[in-house]
Amino acid sequence: MAEPPSNSPRRPLPDGIVPEEVVARTEGRWVMIMATMLVVMMAVIVVTGVAGALHPASNVEVIQPQTLHLGGEFVESNLGTAIEPDGSATVRLIAIQYDFVPHCALVPANTPVKFRLTSADVVHGFLLPDTNVNTMVVPGFVAEVRTSFAEPGDYVMPCHEFCGDGHHGMWARVSVVAKDEFPKLGTVERTSCAKL
Ligand code: CUA
Repeated sequence: MAEPPSNSPRRPLPDGIVPEEVVARTEGRWVMIMATMLVVMMAVIVVTGVAGALHPASNVEVIQPQTLHLGGEFVESNLGTAIEPDGSATVRLIAIQYDFVPHCALVPANTPVKFRLTSADVVHGFLLPDTNVNTMVVPGFVAEVRTSFAEPGDYVMPCHEFCGDGHHGMWARVSVVAKDEFPKLGTVERTSCAKL
């Protein structure tokens, strides 16, 4: 018969070693604390998301970043602001190191505006301060954000994802004009304010 191993848990513990039951009880408490923290953090995310009407990118639309310029929705001639049959505006932009194309988007006030963006190279960010517009622009995907602007004015549109050496200089502009002024502009002027 082999002797029981000398490190059997049954032998008396040396001084300073915490008994197994105490360790299990303490670990159990820590698990409960961690689980509570996770539940609280999830609740904070859900409550702030609902209360602040934050909407994460909801549409998983894929696109080939290498061929944006060759055809489809993001060809150069289709960029900028378009007015839909229902009167809402759709603004299509491309983010590319280190600018947005077009550099200035013109939209009417008090009108639903849908921004559709994609990247031609790396991950960029699209943010309009003091609005609900804030999204990442990931190559291979179309980002879509909906908003509307109550007042005419200019919004600076910085890229807020680090995208390379020129990131700090990557920004563009959204210019909001009065709803009744917008239709008076010519077709080309309405598309973009990049040259104004
Ligand atoms: Cu684009 Cu930072």
